[in-house]
Amino acid sequence: MKVETRVAAAGEGIRAAAKVLASGGLVALPTETVYGLGADALDPVACAKIFEAKDRPLSDPLIVHIPKLEWLDLLAVVSGPARRLAEYFWPGPLTLVLPRREIVPDLVTAGQDTVAIRMSSHPVFQEVLNAFGKPVAAPSANRFGRISPTCVEHVLSELGGRIPLVLDGGPCAHGIESTIVHVNGEGMHILRSGPVTAEELAPFGAVHGAVAGISAPGGLLSHYAPRTPMRIAEPVEQKSRLLFPQEGSRDGRHTHFSVGLLSWESSGEGFAKVERLSRKQDLREAAANLYGAMRRLDEAGLDGIIAEPVPETGLGAAIMERLRKASAR
Ligand code: TXA
Ligand code: MG
Repeated sequence: MKVETRVAAAGEGIRAAAKVLASGGLVALPTETVYGLGADALDPVACAKIFEAKDRPLSDPLIVHIPKLEWLDLLAVVSGPARRLAEYFWPGPLTLVLPRREIVPDLVTAGQDTVAIRMSSHPVFQEVLNAFGKPVAAPSANRFGRISPTCVEHVLSELGGRIPLVLDGGPCAHGIESTIVHVNGEGMHILRSGPVTAEELAPFGAVHGAVAGISAPGGLLSHYAPRTPMRIAEPVEQKSRLLFPQEGSRDGRHTHFSVGLLSWESSGEGFAKVERLSRKQDLREAAANLYGAMRRLDEAGLDGIIAEPVPETGLGAAIMERLRKASAR
């Protein structure tokens, strides 16, 4: 069913958003990571609308965003190590996967015995949650498997006509999704790299890795993906011709392939379109630009996209994780 999507400025939109949430509706909201598609986390019917709007499989659980720290113990069983992470990094781009309590709907956890929880630091998001007064389930506000939105225009191109309201909070500061850490009696595991880096989490005892019985977020190999085929290649100048030859034959005919470059350090001479992640080679700026740059390349009508790898330290690990998922087919 087609609905009219209204975009509201943060000021007047806060009350409107809280009202939509209270009536069991959906609203797209800015967070410090990416835009989220929110619904009342304790109302399974409202949460079902999220899956519908995103075409998301019901097997993929949602992150619950809490307005106040007090909600943490109402939703989950919180160990000492988990509490230390929450107290140190919240509000901020860190999601904790913890043993759930009864109150969390099965739809939200996809029937698992854990729940993912985070507290956003975005002032607009916080104001909406405080006005609403309850936790809000919110995945990224894109259709399933696609690139997460980092500004209102992205949200509209993904979900325009499918949701009633988008709050405009400007571009997202981090530009990639929160770091997800699974905590149980056996330890702490990073399930998804993100703005809170492995280096920052190490002193708390978090290590990279899969946990038995827990599927990694965006569990599918291909995720965060443009429609145009993408490959990671290095060094770009040599490999691009092998992976996406500029001249070749298609259906036996001589054809010119147009290839775009998602660049970290190359100037990208000879490519049909170039998006530089950060001219200063600053990983923060690169993360904030990543999804917008991928979208612009995707919309350019190219035959293929080459992505240049970034250094895999700090935020670079999170960027490389996204590039690998975006190029897996
Ligand atoms: O930054 C973010 O985390 C954004 C903003 C809106 O908060 N949200 C976000 O949500 O990225 P989403 O649904 O696009 O990605 C969350 C991932 C999903 O892939 C899901 O599989 C995983 O978290 N997840 C949720 N609950 C889980 C659980 N109980 N155990 C393991 N993974 C879980
Ligand atoms: Mg997502």
